[in-house]
Amino acid sequence: MKFLFIGDVVGSPGRKMLKEYLPKLQKKYKPAITIINGENAAGGRGITDKIYKEFIQAGAHVVTMGNHTWDQKEIFEFIGEAKSLIRPANFPEGTPGNGSILMKVNHLEIAVINLQGRTFLPAIDCPFRKADELVEKYKKITPYIFVDFHAEATSEKEAMGWYLDGKVTAVVGTHTHVQTADNRILPNGTAYVTDVGMTGPYDGILGMQREAVIKRFLTSLPVRFEVMSGRAQLSGICITVDKKSGLAVNTERILINEDKPFFD
Ligand SMILES: [Fe+2]
Ligand SMILES: [Fe+2]
Repeated sequence: MKFLFIGDVVGSPGRKMLKEYLPKLQKKYKPAITIINGENAAGGRGITDKIYKEFIQAGAHVVTMGNHTWDQKEIFEFIGEAKSLIRPANFPEGTPGNGSILMKVNHLEIAVINLQGRTFLPAIDCPFRKADELVEKYKKITPYIFVDFHAEATSEKEAMGWYLDGKVTAVVGTHTHVQTADNRILPNGTAYVTDVGMTGPYDGILGMQREAVIKRFLTSLPVRFEVMSGRAQLSGICITVDKKSGLAVNTERILINEDKPFFD
């Protein structure tokens, strides 16, 4: 049984890649569940109702978010209705939306949890303690628990992986937009990768127009970042899961771009 996860979809180049390759990936891997991080889907900042629905239409069972959750004003209008959209679970009490979901797909119950780190990111509740709370809750129902840990610091991500090793199916990192090559199965059976990478512009800086980012570094003046156009990429991971234990048995990084074309 396989879980497919696609990293941060950035703007229209990312959405185009998803449209083109998600059907091919689903055909290749036949995943029991498809999860997409959509925190940058609308022009690099947040997600709209229309895009969320497009993702569900395209075959996503769950859409996860991150620090850009609130960037589109309309999120406050539709997050209550968007049952398969989750934002970091350790946002403060009273925040709109849900931070985890128990999905019923293909006669299976799969829990998906979104957490956000707090090293070099806004101060929010403790992601480790929130993980404890949610894992305890879902463990009673299902052995299949997928965690999208949206964090900046590699150390915090590794810490979460080891902290949850053996307790969840996978801890997959998002947010830093560059795929790391450390995908592995930890000793107690949890799949781990520091960052799955993003789906969007191939020639930008983390998906944004290079000139603006470079100007920010040269001058430290406020600059508005826009999504880079041109060539695009798709980043993700496919995790093979043992049906009985709910633990991972294999991880395969997915990276599609002009230098690494897709083969089925
Ligand atoms: Fe992102
Ligand atoms: Fe992020």
